[in-house]
Amino acid sequence: MKTIVTTAYRPTAAIIAETGRVGRELDIRFIDRKKRSIEKMHSDEESDILVVSKERLEFYPMGKAEPFFFHPNSAAFRTKRPLERDPLIEVSGLEKGDSFLDCTLGMASDAITASQHVGPEGKVVGCESNPNIAYIIRSGLQRYSTMPHLTDAMNRIDVHAMDSIAYLKKLESNSFDVIYMDPMFTEKIEESSNFTPVRSSADMGQLTEEWVTEAKRAAKKAVVLKAHFRSQDFEKFGFTRRVRPNTKFHYGAIKLS
Ligand SMILES: C[S@@+](CC[C@H](N)C(=O)[O-])C[C@H]1O[C@@H](n2cnc3c(N)ncnc32)[C@H](O)[C@@H]1O
Repeated sequence: MKTIVTTAYRPTAAIIAETGRVGRELDIRFIDRKKRSIEKMHSDEESDILVVSKERLEFYPMGKAEPFFFHPNSAAFRTKRPLERDPLIEVSGLEKGDSFLDCTLGMASDAITASQHVGPEGKVVGCESNPNIAYIIRSGLQRYSTMPHLTDAMNRIDVHAMDSIAYLKKLESNSFDVIYMDPMFTEKIEESSNFTPVRSSADMGQLTEEWVTEAKRAAKKAVVLKAHFRSQDFEKFGFTRRVRPNTKFHYGAIKLS
């Protein structure tokens, strides 16, 4: 499905200029909104629609009335608790000053939590293969200002709009302390999340031997997997599963040092 970019309903000159810039950066057409509803634009343009407003970027996949936009999601409450006890931090052994590669950035909630924990001496890189998701998240990480305690951690995340296996293959061995994967669940789970509108646009690729092998080569301390509690990928690819009673997903790690 192609994507077009348009403005908010009543655009200012600044929004029109910003929409032009987004169109050029993503190499997609800027279509005049002409005060049309999203539903009308979907039917006129037969495209997914990116909307530029003063506050944020919104993405309306074809047929969806609810937009996808950046929000720190679970990072908002996880970073208010002691981070050493966050399950991702605990399982990975991630420490202050470490480097962390998130192979499946998505909404970046895990990456923000990791970035807050590693601090300014650390480094967090995120790969997202869907270019629209990557663009919205990169922009949100730079401009979201409602949670000031997370601003620096969000600003420090370096987003790459690319497939993480291709990214891993370009890395030297031992490039990151921790490498993390959280592929899309194949099991349907009942949840209401900001991610829901783009679920059908996300990369549904599952873990492969090649992906794990490249991650093990490029990681120093650990490769970490998050998956549905019924997933057999932990055992299949050699991760030690940390069972979390009464939770829909588990984490597992391959410790390398
Ligand atoms: C379950 S979500 C990740 C959620 C994320 N951990 C968070 O905290 O918001 C999976 C995301 O990874 C992306 N993805 C899946 N496979 C990928 C790959 N091989 N390379 C880059 N991104 C990938 C999907 O498009 C989707 O946005």
